[in-house]
Amino acid sequence: MKTLIRHAQVVLPESTERINVLLEDGVIVALDVPDGASADEVIDARGLHLLPGVVDDQVHFREPGLTHKEDLETATRACAKGGVTSFLEMPNTKPTTTSVEALEAKLALAAGRCQVNYGFYIGATPENLAELKRAERTPGIKIFIGSSTGDLLVDSQSALERIFAETTLPICAHCEDEATVRANAARLSGGVSVADHSRIRDHAAAILATRRAVDLAERHRHRFHVLHVSTAEEVEFLRGTSDLITAEACPHHVFFTVDDYERLGTLIQMNPSVKTAADAAAVWQGLLDGTLEVVATDHAPHTLEEKRQPWPKSPSGLPAVENSLALMLNQVSQGLCSLQQVVSWMCEAPARVWNLHHKGVIREGWDADLVLVDLNCTAVVRNADQLTKCGWTPWDGVSLTGWPVRTFVLGRTVYCEGRVVGPAVGQEIRYDRRGG
Ligand code: DOR
Repeated sequence: MKTLIRHAQVVLPESTERINVLLEDGVIVALDVPDGASADEVIDARGLHLLPGVVDDQVHFREPGLTHKEDLETATRACAKGGVTSFLEMPNTKPTTTSVEALEAKLALAAGRCQVNYGFYIGATPENLAELKRAERTPGIKIFIGSSTGDLLVDSQSALERIFAETTLPICAHCEDEATVRANAARLSGGVSVADHSRIRDHAAAILATRRAVDLAERHRHRFHVLHVSTAEEVEFLRGTSDLITAEACPHHVFFTVDDYERLGTLIQMNPSVKTAADAAAVWQGLLDGTLEVVATDHAPHTLEEKRQPWPKSPSGLPAVENSLALMLNQVSQGLCSLQQVVSWMCEAPARVWNLHHKGVIREGWDADLVLVDLNCTAVVRNADQLTKCGWTPWDGVSLTGWPVRTFVLGRTVYCEGRVVGPAVGQEIRYDRRGG
């Protein structure tokens, strides 16, 4: 099956050009073909921009074990709507993905059920070094250097040293210092306000753990990715680190601050916590100047019933895959960044950081994972329209300009004109291993 996408403004690595793109058998076979090139399907994309599909390298899709919140079908339908064509999922499911057996079971669960392409991290524990060394069908290792949802935690220095010394897969970490969080929690134990969440998971917790993890990576010469940077201190610190280190920002740390607890309460309770307006501005600046290379969501759905429990019973996490691209395109519409930057943060950089094979760039011979966006479309985000199983979004009622209108996964349309379409065509992601 040949598909010709005509007249779109195509966002290439170095430029944006009005060219025709030909897809065949899941691959981009030719760029800049004539208007009359023969194809089974011709899509007139006049007025639209064609981007590589979004690669979201940090999501929690809850399967197996927590499927009352989300499952791979609902999550990947939400991805298709949001222009996300590949995801890398975290190991804090039930059971946790902390052995090769659990990893392969998760891959088997995903096969034939995902609307978009899938990959799963293997999680570190203080005891599973042999599994971390053996795992192959994974982008890398996730360490919770600080506990969050679930019970994954590696806090002991000797266990961390061994993981960084003896494994070869890239590592990423949730960086909030466990001792600091516990001490703050003890000090504020009488607290009754969700705002205390940011006092417990405070600036010191974030910067201490990020420094500790980067120190391990630099000493052991290990590729390391800092997830969800939330403070100005971390951004400043990361400006001076080596090229072994990459880092990312999430939309909620850019668009929400402690001032929003009054309006949104536990809906914006997240780990790491949201911080001040100055932190949010610093995280945005870190993206603009390239200190932070990746934008990912940390999509972490919980039901509204769970979220409405009074803090601190309420769980941390919010859903975002179906709105993240629109949130960033809205920044473009406001003149706050360029479309090329959004593509770099959400497509090219995550594919490069995790060595995804033939993804993240519009290039001949690469996978036809693509999204057509309308930069002039304005629409209001509504809970009622959300495809995530949890059925809510912290951006309910927010008007955004710039939306995905059609998403392709391996050359097949999976979302078009407001509807998810077609069978679940997502495939297991392959990884280019350096030196191998
Ligand atoms: O707020 C969070 N929720 N942060 C995490 O690191 C995990 C996530 C979840 O799984 O709910």
